[in-house]
Amino acid sequence: MKLLIGVSGASGGAYAVALLKEAVRLGCEVHAVFSRWGAEVLRLECGHGPEDFPDVRLYDPDDMSAPPASGSTLYDGMVILPCSMHTLACAAHGMSFNLLQRAAGVMLKEKRPLVLVPRETPLSIVHLENMLALARAGALILPASPAFYHKPRDLDALINQVAGKVLNALGLEQNLFPAWSAPEERTPGHACRGREKAAE
Ligand SMILES: Cc1cc2nc3c(=O)[nH]c(=O)nc-3n(C[C@H](O)[C@H](O)[C@H](O)COP(=O)(O)O)c2cc1C
Repeated sequence: MKLLIGVSGASGGAYAVALLKEAVRLGCEVHAVFSRWGAEVLRLECGHGPEDFPDVRLYDPDDMSAPPASGSTLYDGMVILPCSMHTLACAAHGMSFNLLQRAAGVMLKEKRPLVLVPRETPLSIVHLENMLALARAGALILPASPAFYHKPRDLDALINQVAGKVLNALGLEQNLFPAWSAPEERTPGHACRGREKAAE
C-alpha cells in the first residue's frame, strides 16, 4: 500500500510517530508531508523532527510541484494526523496554501480514501460544520479520542490505539492494539499484548 501521511500543527504528534513507524513496519510505501507547525509541535511535544523517519519519503510543504500535489500520483490512502482546525478548514473549503492541504483536496477530488484525525476541544460550530462538509465530500473523520475498553496500562497503549484505529480504517491489519474479544476469551495481560507485539 502506498500511503501519504500528513502531520499538521495540532497537539498529538505522538500519534503520528506511532502511525509512521507501524505503517513502515507493515511494509507500506510511506510518503509524508509535515506542515511548518506540524514539525514544530512534534519537536516540542516529542523531541522528534520529520528527519527522524529514514524510511519515509518526505516532501517540502512549500513544494507545490511535488508528487502529492497531483492526482496522477496514485496513493491508496491519505491520513492527516493530527489534523489541526486550520488544515481541516482549508480542506473543507478547497483551499491549498501548502502541499498538505493541496494533497487533501486531490484525494477528495479523486475520490480516494482520506482519513482526518482532528485534535481540538471543545469544538465550535465552525469546526463541526467543516467536519460535516468533509464527511459529505467523502473523508472519514476519526477523532483522536482513545478508547479505554482494552484497559490501556500506559500512555503508549492509548497512543497506539488511535494509530491502530487509523490503520484499520484503511483496511490494514495492525499490531498496535488487539481487536475486541468477548471478556471470556481474554487472558490476563491482554491489555498490553498489542504494545508488546509492536515492540518485538
Ligand atoms: C503547542 C501547540 C499546540 C497546538 N495544538 C493545537 C490543537 O490541538 N488543535 C489545533 O487545531 N491547533 C493547535 N495548535 C495551533 C496550530 O498549530 C495553528 O493553528 C497552526 O496555524 C496550524 O497550522 P497547520 O494547520 O498548517 O499545521 C497548536 C499550536 C501549538 C504551538
